[in-house]
Amino acid sequence: MTKRRPPGPAPPARTRATGSGQGIRPCSGALPRAPAAGRAKIDAVRTLSFPDANTHNRKRQKRPPRRAESTALPSGRCGTGHITSVNGNSCGGLVMTGTGTRVAPALSSDGGERLYSQLHELRSAGPAVRVELPEGVVAWSVTRGDVVRQLATHPHLSRDARGIWPNYRPGAVAWLYTWVDTRSMATSEGQEHKRLRKMIGPVFGPRRLQNLRPSIEATVDGLLQGLAAEDPREPLDIRARFAHEVPTRVMCDFFGVPEDQRPFMLKFLGMALQTGGTPESARRTEQGVKTAMRRLIAAKRADPGDDMTSLLLTEHEGDQLTEDELISTLNLMMGAGTQTTVALLVHAIQELVTHRDQLAAALADPSRWDHVVEETLRLHPPVVHLPLRFATADIDLGEGAVIAAGDAVILGFGAEGRDPAIHDRAEEFDLDRADKTHLAFGHGAHYCLGAPLARLEAAVALPALFTRFPRMALADSEAVPVPHLSFIANDMGGLNVRLDGGGAAG
Ligand code: HEM
Repeated sequence: MTKRRPPGPAPPARTRATGSGQGIRPCSGALPRAPAAGRAKIDAVRTLSFPDANTHNRKRQKRPPRRAESTALPSGRCGTGHITSVNGNSCGGLVMTGTGTRVAPALSSDGGERLYSQLHELRSAGPAVRVELPEGVVAWSVTRGDVVRQLATHPHLSRDARGIWPNYRPGAVAWLYTWVDTRSMATSEGQEHKRLRKMIGPVFGPRRLQNLRPSIEATVDGLLQGLAAEDPREPLDIRARFAHEVPTRVMCDFFGVPEDQRPFMLKFLGMALQTGGTPESARRTEQGVKTAMRRLIAAKRADPGDDMTSLLLTEHEGDQLTEDELISTLNLMMGAGTQTTVALLVHAIQELVTHRDQLAAALADPSRWDHVVEETLRLHPPVVHLPLRFATADIDLGEGAVIAAGDAVILGFGAEGRDPAIHDRAEEFDLDRADKTHLAFGHGAHYCLGAPLARLEAAVALPALFTRFPRMALADSEAVPVPHLSFIANDMGGLNVRLDGGGAAG
């Protein structure tokens, strides 16, 4: 679950060329591509020479034009938009070919610190940078906070690939199932988006949520009792025993997921966020997620209850929701509502046990728990890059970066909070910082529907945990948690602590 950091200072950010062995692959000719006109523009403007990320340390609105490093170079793509070159040389952590031919670098799925260091490289390279995602999908990565904010409400970006992404074939790339192929509010726009969001939205209103508070408190209390029964001197994985359990139990109860279906569903929902696997494992995950949702629907059809799934089934049977929309909506809600909040909780716990003065401040003044939550979301956004949006017209971002109509885009919602042009000492956890703003929940019409629930869960869980175990500390302050392999989700395999501190306060 954790690996030990070698003695001595923390290693510098890795500069490996590609992530998780994804690397640059030869063209196979089966994937979506930009129209020819778009490709010509893209190939002319790319730059992969990343200046020192520290030179990016300027404040909001004061960003001067960046050094023009791009020149028109031969394309490294075949006729389908795939990357054909295999001669990758490391350049600032990303890839360019030995001959100087520039190709889209692979976005690393290594997770952890690499997720963060990669943001600096991308931000320094331009307002938008072409990157290769798993299975050869190419997209523009946007990581400057001001540009992410601007594009999140841009009228020429759509979350719906249909009719926009050239040659898009649902199902052709397994890992895109959750992000592009499903038919939910997250992948629709306009009236369709409104219709699908309205079906669920009211449930997350402030009054309805406050009704959920007692059951969240009961869940947290039950988990704390379980922890209190353990030997407090023994290492214990607080992610598995607490951070994972709070949001997954809350959501499974809310959606009426039968106890015996939970492990299977949660396993595949967790895997859907991990992008560092093989195409075969992505296909198994897609099938697993669909099976889990179908089993849930079958169980609720046979035995409806007072839960969200039964409510959605009523909409489905009243012709308000197609079968595909029902499965997609369940997938969206159960995936978005569990894994993200797990990551929020585990990162908050990690920061508090390693910043004991800030933990003491929160324990002394309950109003500070909100600061803990917002500062954690800023520094450790559970969703770093969100795939995918599609340009319905050319978008010129300046500095030579033109997103062409039909191109795919990933917005780095998690990048804004770490942008040194926006936040001083952006990489420090500091409850006292005046500006804790972030885009961790997105921005615009698709702003996270579950943000109030995630905040409520954290507001209940964190004070309860630390009031009960104020001396909790890392079991091994030298251990580095193993990150999940993903360019999307920012989570870890586990976090070992000792509930009574055990002398290893970080
Ligand atoms: C810390 C926890 C969470 C984080 C960081 C997070 C983050 C996000 C982000 C970045 C988006 C995309 C916004 C966009 O595309 O513009 C999103 C959308 C969404 N989230 Fe969350 N989320 C969290 C918790 C939840 C929870 C608890 C639920 C459900 C109970 C939820 C349900 C949704 C839904 C339904 C959408 C799609 C909204 C739409 O497209 O209109 N999220 N979330």
